[in-house]
Amino acid sequence: MCGIVGYIGSKNSAEVIYNGLEKLEYRGYDSAGIAVISKNEILTRRSVGKLKNLKANLETNPISGNNGIGHTRWATHGKPCEENAHPHTDCSGKIVVVHNGIIENYVSIKKQLISEGHIFKSETDTEVIAHLIEKYYKKDVLEAVKSALKEVRGAYALAVICADEPERLIVARYDAPLVVAKGKDENYIASDVSALLNYARDFIFLENGDICEIKKDSIKIFNGGKEVKRETQKILWNAVQAEKAGYKHFMLKEIYEQPQTILDTFRGRLSSEQNTVLLDGINITKDYLKEISKIYIIACGTSYHAGLTAKFVLESLTVIPTEVDIASEFRYRDHVINEKTLVIFISQSGETADTLAALRLAKQRGSKTLAICNVVGSSISREADNVLYTHCGPEIGVASTKAFTGQLTVLYLIALDFATKLDTISKDKLETLVKYLWDLPVKVTECLKQADAIKKIAKEFHAKKQFIYLARNLNYPIALEGALKLKEISYIYAEGYAAGEMKHGPIALIDETMPVMVIATKSKIYEKVLSNIEEAKARGAKIIAIVNADDKEIAKKADYRIEVPETDEIFSPVINVIPLQLFAYYVSTMRGCDVDQPRNLAKSVTVE
Ligand code: M6R
Repeated sequence: MCGIVGYIGSKNSAEVIYNGLEKLEYRGYDSAGIAVISKNEILTRRSVGKLKNLKANLETNPISGNNGIGHTRWATHGKPCEENAHPHTDCSGKIVVVHNGIIENYVSIKKQLISEGHIFKSETDTEVIAHLIEKYYKKDVLEAVKSALKEVRGAYALAVICADEPERLIVARYDAPLVVAKGKDENYIASDVSALLNYARDFIFLENGDICEIKKDSIKIFNGGKEVKRETQKILWNAVQAEKAGYKHFMLKEIYEQPQTILDTFRGRLSSEQNTVLLDGINITKDYLKEISKIYIIACGTSYHAGLTAKFVLESLTVIPTEVDIASEFRYRDHVINEKTLVIFISQSGETADTLAALRLAKQRGSKTLAICNVVGSSISREADNVLYTHCGPEIGVASTKAFTGQLTVLYLIALDFATKLDTISKDKLETLVKYLWDLPVKVTECLKQADAIKKIAKEFHAKKQFIYLARNLNYPIALEGALKLKEISYIYAEGYAAGEMKHGPIALIDETMPVMVIATKSKIYEKVLSNIEEAKARGAKIIAIVNADDKEIAKKADYRIEVPETDEIFSPVINVIPLQLFAYYVSTMRGCDVDQPRNLAKSVTVE
């Protein structure tokens, strides 16, 4: 989730762009760069780390020009370093590009371009776009961009300038946000409105497939080969509202980003044509998988809950015994891991001290390690033998939401990849499951439509002092996660239990003061969950049930219902966690808690 800004007019674009990038730093900040056209020449400045490093660079080596583009990077392909920082250029250095998104087929494009003589300078997927534009360039950068984009698959918000055409700024969008802002004899572009509110209020929100030619006094938008018109909207948000895209809190924004972040995490890894999983870049072969005796998953907090869910999925699809452990526990006990154990580490930040220490221990034992991280270049991602990133963009709310569904997404891909390699899944079943995976973003969007209904339920329960969350099987970890969300942001004591365990003790807690949240979507043990609901209800508990939309049975038993769409049972955790995130969010706001920065917590726990 990088940030893009561009300007064309009569001001010094470098200044306008830098000011805009400052407002976008929340989108990622491992490097930043600006390129401007000055006297038919491209001048570029790039710096690693926070934006202030670029500022220092610009102060020492100033650049100016009336047409320019800039970028603040959240690395997806290639480590954070100057070579990988945007803008990227073609071989001639005359065409420059900034990009937010992921080019799924960049490996094959890059191979082809290298065979045609192009020389690459970075590890990024973005650089292929600059070279593709160069390939098609015949003194018309707009036409060259149109031709280049015909070859590209994936997501992009793109801005391009060309030294030989200083009066044009070309932008394009597909599945990544991009806005154009209108000024008087000047125009701007950015990833979102927050970057430009100091300069403009009239915005055009580009749509998928739009390619746009911007001059200082005109904006032309093309889609599907034709010129199209897009409405201009007046945006009256203040700066704080804009940073959160109009949402009241980062947590809510991040909850709503999930359909997109799940899709972004699929990108380049899930083939819609063949319905297969392609996990390039990890060295885990069929022969290795046949040799190992178990998989061990280690993580903390929400990431640990993703691991617990994965145990069910991995054991069911690959038949490899899978253990899951809390990193701080793993470190201090006698564990049986060795070179026949694949150890998977899950961490949003990639910096959690206990998880990092556990990784080092596993490596000492000779185990192969695989990290699932959201932050590229983080310690865990660097030290593990293999890494798969969740492409969720920066998660700012302390309560993890989009990173969790991103982790689950990667874990599903791993399970399907391993099962394919081991031949433990039939071709038909693989195809069916991949189709269900593709449907997840749409189904998560459907869940989000329940927000008002969930808010009403939250209103009824926000003053309660305690809560029990119940579920079974692979939704049991989701009950734990729902309870964790509630306690960390609303400070209500909440506990998750495997519903079948109730009668072994916890049922003693139940009376009319104890609300019970139950995950009761369709599953092979649905009827058993119904019985658990009866048991709690008989003791006076108020029941809130998460159910599939057509469920008539639960209507008779639960006091409140939250309806979610049906999916294959294996993917139901991704769906069922959404209402629990929203419920915790609304309860927290109604109690007046600090949603994004709850008391006593830190986003990244880098101490033991
Ligand atoms: O960055 P990590 O995924 O390693 O962080 C692990 C936990 O600290 C984290 O998930 C924590 O539990 C969150 N606050 C949960 O919302």
